[in-house]
Amino acid sequence: MQHKANMKKLIAGNWKMNGSLATNEVLLAALAEGLTNDRPSCDVAVCVPAPYLAQIQALKLTHSSLSVIDVGAQDVSAQASGAYTGEVSAAMLKDFGCRYVIVGHSERRQYHFETDALVADKAKAALASGITPIVCIGETVAEREAGRTEEVVRRQLAAVIRGNGHCISEVVLAYEPVWAIGTGKTASPEEAQAVHAVLRAQLKAATDQSARVKILYGGSMNAANAASLLAQPDIDGGLIGGASLKAPDFLKIIAAAHV
Ligand code: 13P
Repeated sequence: MQHKANMKKLIAGNWKMNGSLATNEVLLAALAEGLTNDRPSCDVAVCVPAPYLAQIQALKLTHSSLSVIDVGAQDVSAQASGAYTGEVSAAMLKDFGCRYVIVGHSERRQYHFETDALVADKAKAALASGITPIVCIGETVAEREAGRTEEVVRRQLAAVIRGNGHCISEVVLAYEPVWAIGTGKTASPEEAQAVHAVLRAQLKAATDQSARVKILYGGSMNAANAASLLAQPDIDGGLIGGASLKAPDFLKIIAAAHV
């Protein structure tokens, strides 16, 4: 069943800890050129390392075709302000024009021990500042092999629903199976759709606005496999790591994301 015919898809790049002033300029110039004659029919965002937010905003002003690209960050503090050395608040991200922030990426859950509860608090902090959190969830290979995929993603989503009440319809979800991230192993369109359908049903039970929630797929999405993933009824876009650092590839994924 097609869950909705006319929701715009979202293609978001997650640059992770990559880039430099020089390479960002080259990448955005190439994206600008590609977008000049080919206005996307989907929403597009790049989630960049925080120190580069100002540079990306400036480059958007330099290249008018980049106005279709929204800017996002990759993490946010759950705290509003104060003695939290090294943290960046949602209000600070808002100051730099962020429309999105990724929260709960598996790399942060794994390397920075972020819990479901902390991820829910970060989503709440983003929403309180008018920033859309892109909440990442997904199972490890061991969890998948143990048949626990559904249980794990439902638990991760439940924490965000619990912490955010009726605001849950304002989030973007990203299903990123950990075993597919940066490995070249993509979930098949059918495997991804099966999990997305579970998440859609869980959202439906939580809010009557569930049809508005975009559920992105992430994990080795590339120019070759994007169209078949994005054709699935409950896949509303992609969160792209490696391929978002190569302009031709990212542009092909954007082109594959028709309504
Ligand atoms: P890759 O596209 O490099 O597998 O990364 C996916 C990801 O983690 C996006 O957040």
